[in-house]
Amino acid sequence: MGAVVVVGTHWGDEAKGKFVDLIGQDAEVVIRYGGGPNAGHTVIVGDQTHKFHLVPSGILNPRAVCLMADGMVIDPEILLREIDELNRRGVSTDGLKISHNAHVILPYHKRLDVLEEKAKGARAIGTTGRGVGPCYVDKAARLGIRMFDLAQGITHLRERLRAVLPYKNDALTKLYGEEAMDLETLLAVLAPLAERLRPFVADTTAIAGDAVAEGKRILFEGAQATLLDIDGGTYPYVTSSHPVSGGACIGTGVPPTAIDQVLGVVKAYTTRVGAGTFPTELLDEQGERIRERGHEYGTTTGRARRCGWLDGVALRYAVRVNGLTGVCVGHLDVLAGFDTIRVCVGYLKGGKLLRDFPAGDVSLLDGCEPVFDELPGWPEESIENVARFEDLPVTAQAYVRKVEEIAGVPARFVSIGPRRDQTLVPPGSPAPRALFSLGRPVVLPTPAASRVL
Ligand code: IMP
Repeated sequence: MGAVVVVGTHWGDEAKGKFVDLIGQDAEVVIRYGGGPNAGHTVIVGDQTHKFHLVPSGILNPRAVCLMADGMVIDPEILLREIDELNRRGVSTDGLKISHNAHVILPYHKRLDVLEEKAKGARAIGTTGRGVGPCYVDKAARLGIRMFDLAQGITHLRERLRAVLPYKNDALTKLYGEEAMDLETLLAVLAPLAERLRPFVADTTAIAGDAVAEGKRILFEGAQATLLDIDGGTYPYVTSSHPVSGGACIGTGVPPTAIDQVLGVVKAYTTRVGAGTFPTELLDEQGERIRERGHEYGTTTGRARRCGWLDGVALRYAVRVNGLTGVCVGHLDVLAGFDTIRVCVGYLKGGKLLRDFPAGDVSLLDGCEPVFDELPGWPEESIENVARFEDLPVTAQAYVRKVEEIAGVPARFVSIGPRRDQTLVPPGSPAPRALFSLGRPVVLPTPAASRVL
């Protein structure tokens, strides 16, 4: 029937989990294609709040097969804790499959992540400290341990680790003056985890390929977001994987020709965690207000997120590099009560107007002054319980239309609160299930750069 990719448009934490859960209710296969436990997806169903770091949010649909694909890096301990917690809550994980090609985050990755950050001092990235970067480094260096190795049994795993551990211990002892890790101690920790995970390990590329061939409804669940992409993001303040829509192909073995729709989840404002320039950041009480109203504290690390007005320049960039065919606008309720709301439509640097997001050379962002359009706000507590898009205050509707105008693609869903029922479908947009049969646009939309500026 069709394949839909959901990605974040800015620096993550756009509430992708909520939209994936919504669309995932009608999916037959849900696939997470990259990243690891650095992600934190929150889904609220009834009186239960589910927080996922590794398991795809689609697990809440008992009819869906959930794949953790090749592009992911997996911490076995965190994954098993998540599986146990889901089972304790009565959520079945029988449909969960983990790619044999996914890489395993090991204790030395976590130690190195923290040590490397400390050594960088003022140049630290502000990583989540979950070992994600060092694990991807080993993958690229061909020193990685994959789920395949974990599933092969202790003898095989010992051999693999015997070959890799000296490199890691060299780094720990010689670079950082830390203690070396002992092979047998490591194996004693890993053996019971490997035993429990073995039944989940599979060739997910084959499962996904069959699903494509059978025309199933497939949902690709992005983690992190466009500006954190290792290639397309604000390097070096990025993660180590490919959160952009192209990553859905690289990370799963599904070809680009199989993808029909790409939805970008965009917050009504913009947030960022960790270091790096953030042109629309609000360092005043307005930013504080957004942070408190939006509960902008990390699901994974608890860190306070930096908050600012919506960066439309970055949004247009996200439309272009992901080939977005629609957006899901989140957290609209958080902006209630502001007299006026600002949206950044360009950057001024040294008297020159920048139209395009300078992803390649992010130093260009330093000293950029955002150029804002100003829109009227809507009253406090006016929207959380609205049942139809048309019943939103006209100013809130106009704000969504402004986001559409900047993006050059339609808003498919608008979120006015964390619950499933706090989601509106603008007139003319299809119901979630129908997204899978929309097909592919003949011509990809172009973001409205020249029209806005
Ligand atoms: P790492 O992915 O832990 O290596 O962190 C690299 C950068 O990406 C840091 O600035 C993190 O705060 C950021 N990051 C990683 N994952 C997420 C996420 O899921 N949401 C928001 N930021 C993230």
